[in-house]
Amino acid sequence: MEKMWSGRFSAGASNLLDEFNASIMYDRKLYREDIEGSLAHAAMLAKQGILTEEELKQIQDGLAQVKEEIESGKFEWNISDEDLHMGIEKRLTQIIGDTGKKLHTARSRNDQVAVDFRRFVLRKNKEIAEAIKALMDAILVVAQKHTDTLIPGMTHLQHAQPINFGFHLGAYLSMFKRDIERFESSYERNNISPLGCAALAGTPHNVDREYTAELLGFESVSINCLDTVSDRDFALEILFNISTMMMHISRLSEELVMWSSYEFGFVELSDEYSTGSSIMPQKKNPDVPELLRGKTGRVYGALVGLLTVMKGLPLAYNKDTQEDKEGVFDAVETAEISLEILKEAIKTMQVKTDNMEHACAIGHLSATDLADYLVEKCGIPFREAHFITGRAVAKGEELGVDLSKMDFKYLKEIDERINEDVMEYLGLRHSMNARTSQGGTASERTKEQLDYFKNYLQK
Ligand code: ARG
Repeated sequence: MEKMWSGRFSAGASNLLDEFNASIMYDRKLYREDIEGSLAHAAMLAKQGILTEEELKQIQDGLAQVKEEIESGKFEWNISDEDLHMGIEKRLTQIIGDTGKKLHTARSRNDQVAVDFRRFVLRKNKEIAEAIKALMDAILVVAQKHTDTLIPGMTHLQHAQPINFGFHLGAYLSMFKRDIERFESSYERNNISPLGCAALAGTPHNVDREYTAELLGFESVSINCLDTVSDRDFALEILFNISTMMMHISRLSEELVMWSSYEFGFVELSDEYSTGSSIMPQKKNPDVPELLRGKTGRVYGALVGLLTVMKGLPLAYNKDTQEDKEGVFDAVETAEISLEILKEAIKTMQVKTDNMEHACAIGHLSATDLADYLVEKCGIPFREAHFITGRAVAKGEELGVDLSKMDFKYLKEIDERINEDVMEYLGLRHSMNARTSQGGTASERTKEQLDYFKNYLQK
């Protein structure tokens, strides 16, 4: 089979080269973008008098047929066509004859692939942002039910201060909102049309780049063609956006794995989203969050892979760039299924509030409250209050009781300035609700935060 670029060659390509060089087996995913790009380009060529109206009509009809063939599975994808651009153009020419050969006037595969891939990535920035919103909706529903459910707040994975579970989930809502904003800002920044840049230097044909940009839904036209045909920042951005989002998903997953253990027992994932063991009949494994944690690794791989592909490239287009697509396709698919399954796992999980609250009664979670009491009620400087509280904690350890349950007489022994009203301060719910500073865990404050996310999601 003769190649489209075979003019200056006397021998055909080896099969090995075809296999090595081709991207058609995966870039065919971009067929919609490619056909839409060609339709816009042809319409512009006709408007500029470069194609006749009759030729435009033939191209439009031919491309409609190609699209139909692709969608019905009739289209033959051949590795010898190298990429989808040439595969589609070849088929178009088979269908409509010589007019098909005029479509590539004032265009190169370099701007063509830049259009296709950029539009794919832009669309995915939007779709993923929407999918994150759906996940946030599911988290919000659980969070709103648990603004009074105590859970140990931790630092260093050690019990620190009592918080409520809604507040804990609110932290993830904050992360996911930032993720959405990153996808949105990438969309805005990269919504620029490469079409009309041709191979690298622009074209002598009288093209109207504004017109094709408008037809394709781009906000504006790129500034410098040399940059445009070699720029893959938009692809790196979505990979970074997905990586950061997956890092957040992975952190939440790590907590779900821990919380599902007997040691924590804070949640139980539904049977629908848990798996069993082939040997141990009693097992119910949190495969979903574990896989989410694991899949984060391959997404990082795609980001680092493309960063590495790009780092040594001289201007402008280089074939290395063809390596941009598979990692992005894989990362996008990973992001989509991850968001979907995490959402379902959260919707169907059981929150074991009793276990959460029990866990709060271990580890002297209200120690800071005793120190705060000594400062506020007894006028003791914080450093000294910290020391006195440390002694109270040591006493609790010795007696085997949590500070929140300790008999008042022991506290009085430690420092006689302490009065009976301290017992209220040491209560765990009191401790949680005392943290009323802006952004704090007090139930009322948590509810405000969740309302903020609710409003955000309704917009
Ligand atoms: N398949 C190529 C890619 O994905 C399309 C652009 C090819 N351009 C070229 N001059 N070889 O990057």
